[in-house]
Amino acid sequence: MINKKEQTLVIIKPDGVQRGLIGEIIKRYEKSGLKLTGLKIVIPTNKLIESHYLVDLNWKTKVGEKSIEAYKKKGLISPSENPIEIGDRVLNNLKKYLTSGPIIAMVWEGMNAIAIIRKITGGTEPLVSDVGTIRGDLTIDSYEVADSDGRAVRNLIHASGSAEESEKEIALWFNKNEILSYRLVSESILYDVNLDGILE
Ligand code: CMP
Repeated sequence: MINKKEQTLVIIKPDGVQRGLIGEIIKRYEKSGLKLTGLKIVIPTNKLIESHYLVDLNWKTKVGEKSIEAYKKKGLISPSENPIEIGDRVLNNLKKYLTSGPIIAMVWEGMNAIAIIRKITGGTEPLVSDVGTIRGDLTIDSYEVADSDGRAVRNLIHASGSAEESEKEIALWFNKNEILSYRLVSESILYDVNLDGILE
C-alpha cells in the first residue's frame, strides 16, 4: 500500500546556504504539495557526516561506480577505476565540505516524498542535471572540476535515496520530538477521496 506519510531527509549543503538559496530551495519543495515537518540549522561534525553517508554499507562502492560511469558517458577516463578508492576519497572531501559552515536539515513528508524530492532536486552532477531541477538550474559544478581540485562536488542538496536510508538518516539528524505532526488545509485537495464541500 502507498504510504501517504512517507518521510525524507533533505540537507541544504553549505554552498546553498552561502549563496542565499535557502528560500528558493524550500519554495520549490513546498510548491510540490509535500509538508515540511522538521527544520534546523546546524554545523555538522565529521562524525555526523561519516555516520550519515555510511548508513548505506555499500555507499562507497555505489558512489565510486556512479562517478566512473559519469566519466565514461562523457568519453573521459576516471582518475581511478577502483570504486572503493573513489568512495574513500569522496567521503574525506565530503567531510571537509559539509562541516565548513551551517547547513539546513529538513524532513519533508507526503505521498511519494522520497521520489518527488529527488525529482525536484535533480541528478548528482549539476553539469548534467536536468533543467528545471534545483541542481540543474541553480549551480554549475562537475565531477571533473571537483576531482581535479580535490574536493567534493558542490551540488547544493542531499536528499535520501530510499525509505530505508531516509529512516536511518532522519534518526541521525533529528530527535523524535523535533518532527511535528500536523495537518495542512491543502492536504484535502491532494489526498481526500471526495471533494464535497468545495461548492457553497
Ligand atoms: P550527495 O547526493 O550528497 O551524495 C554523495 C555526495 O558526494 C554527492 O552528493 C556529491 O556532493 C559528492 N560526490 C559524489 N561523487 C563524487 C566524486 N566523484 N567527486 C567528488 N564528489 C563527489
